[in-house]
Amino acid sequence: MHRLTRKVRFSITPFLPADINGFNSFSSQPAGDGLAIFFELAVTLDGGLDEKSGFVVNVLDIDTEVRKSVVPVIAERIRTYFKQGRHTGFIEIAQLLAESREKLKSIFTNASVSCLSLQLNPLRAVAIDSREKNMVYFSEKFEFAATHKLWNDSLSEQENFSLFGKCANPAGHGHNYIVEVMVKAAPGDLHVADFQRIVDEKLIRILDHKNLNVDVPHFSKVIPTVENLSVFAWDSLFGRFEKATLHCVTIQETEKTFCSYYGK
Ligand code: NI
Repeated sequence: MHRLTRKVRFSITPFLPADINGFNSFSSQPAGDGLAIFFELAVTLDGGLDEKSGFVVNVLDIDTEVRKSVVPVIAERIRTYFKQGRHTGFIEIAQLLAESREKLKSIFTNASVSCLSLQLNPLRAVAIDSREKNMVYFSEKFEFAATHKLWNDSLSEQENFSLFGKCANPAGHGHNYIVEVMVKAAPGDLHVADFQRIVDEKLIRILDHKNLNVDVPHFSKVIPTVENLSVFAWDSLFGRFEKATLHCVTIQETEKTFCSYYGK
């Protein structure tokens, strides 16, 4: 089984009667005009390979079908809500994603739509997954800056430098870390401010602008690798959200290095 994901970018201009199609699907198609709402929908399809093409599904067909069947539904709903002066909350977004899944399910009969993820801003996404029908997955990125040193007290200095290289330098070195926290919840139970407050209080404040080896007691015994940081982040956040369940924590140390932890 292969799992194929294609991102489709589009914009909806709520007070125009129709959207301008444009010619640059890499940026956004429909293109949007002036102040428009930009979306990126990631469509994940599970399936076997077609022998002739080597595709699960031709990604150009995903683009075409999303723009033909899904974008007009979302555009129409948003225009209606704007006209009514009505807020589009997570319940409405989850409903739109569920309708989108139904549309795509009847089109791609050789592959199943396992996940639809809607990027609401560059750092925040809401997704539905076929394994958890009544839940949504909400994820958001946070940042913290910290210094650390990779060092194992039970090894000699030479062994430490041979294992950790320059990461073992005595004065340490810094990273601008990115933390992505993903929770699952019933759409009506998602509250962005509560979510952010808990991540800030229970994790970010403990790590931000700290020397991890010195200022965070946990890392006086545990080596602050990106792997161990992801476990620390999980343990700091698990069970803390009132009506949401922690699903995954990803710690990104550099543009090239990140680690996700799912609790086991
Ligand atoms: Ni480092």
